[in-house]
Amino acid sequence: MGRARTDNDSWEITESVGATALGVAVSRARETESENPLIIDPFARVFVAAAGDGIWNMFGVSELPPEIAEAEPDVARWLDVRVDYMASRTAFFDGFFLDAANAGVRQVVILAAGLDSRAFRLPWPDGTTVYELDQPKVLEFKSSALREHGAQPTCHRVEVAVDLRHDWPMALRQAGFDTSAASVWSAEGLLPFLPAKAQDLLFERVQALTVAGSRIAVEAPGPEFNDPDARERQRSLMRRYREVAAKVGGREAPDFEDLWYLEDRADVADWFSTETDPAIVQAVAKAEADARKPVEGTFPPPSALNQ
Ligand SMILES: C[S@@+](CC[C@H](N)C(=O)[O-])C[C@H]1O[C@@H](n2cnc3c(N)ncnc32)[C@H](O)[C@@H]1O
Repeated sequence: MGRARTDNDSWEITESVGATALGVAVSRARETESENPLIIDPFARVFVAAAGDGIWNMFGVSELPPEIAEAEPDVARWLDVRVDYMASRTAFFDGFFLDAANAGVRQVVILAAGLDSRAFRLPWPDGTTVYELDQPKVLEFKSSALREHGAQPTCHRVEVAVDLRHDWPMALRQAGFDTSAASVWSAEGLLPFLPAKAQDLLFERVQALTVAGSRIAVEAPGPEFNDPDARERQRSLMRRYREVAAKVGGREAPDFEDLWYLEDRADVADWFSTETDPAIVQAVAKAEADARKPVEGTFPPPSALNQ
């Protein structure tokens, strides 16, 4: 399949990169509804219901038909691992944000917020502003689903409809972001969707907007992301997943490789340690270690969380 991306592409929630936000919401909904959930996201199911039926629901299949699960055990396992991974990732970022808020940071910037519901479900201290950055149609869908559900934010929530490859810092400042005050940032489930150059530019811009006491957590592709053997394993798994999706739901699943930019890119931890102002706190932690839900097996892209 040819590349489905272009430099200025944009999307609805149900298409292209937008649908990946729905895929994450399905995983969060499934974790929330599981017997012993690591995270509770009461809005995840609201989003999925508002979007209706689509290929993203394949990520919520808890049990494949037995003959398919038997024929494709790796795919069945991958779908389960995905839910564990998303739960761990969510818990990690929840804890990261609450630590910063408890340390007194009152500006929160969620890059590529997608269907992240932290502005509605975390106990933010008074005076906290959460800026949610994503593409306009993604934010429109999110607001409309939450409005219809009667959801109320637990902070001062500000939507900033932008393309993160364009001049988003200006839009963020115009939305009220104070460059003289500390801030806390996340880039979760974003980097593979940006070209390598846009990733560097993104972090340069974050750096220019932050002062002492600011923090950032990034879900970064690991060294295997672009490794040819790892890519081939991933490609073969994706092929089989797409076949299963066609058999189970009669649907054509997107190929993540059409949405990701498989380019060599700067290691995020190195980038921050060499390029950044020492004010930005750094550490590297494995999501599963912090979130206490062991993720068994591999879930591509291999991820390190850099904080
Ligand atoms: C996999 S989802 C992750 C969403 C959210 N961070 C989460 O973890 O639930 C990827 C998100 O990145 C957003 N995104 C990707 N590239 C973008 C860009 N160039 N500008 C704005 N948003 C972008 C998509 O719209 C989508 O909401």
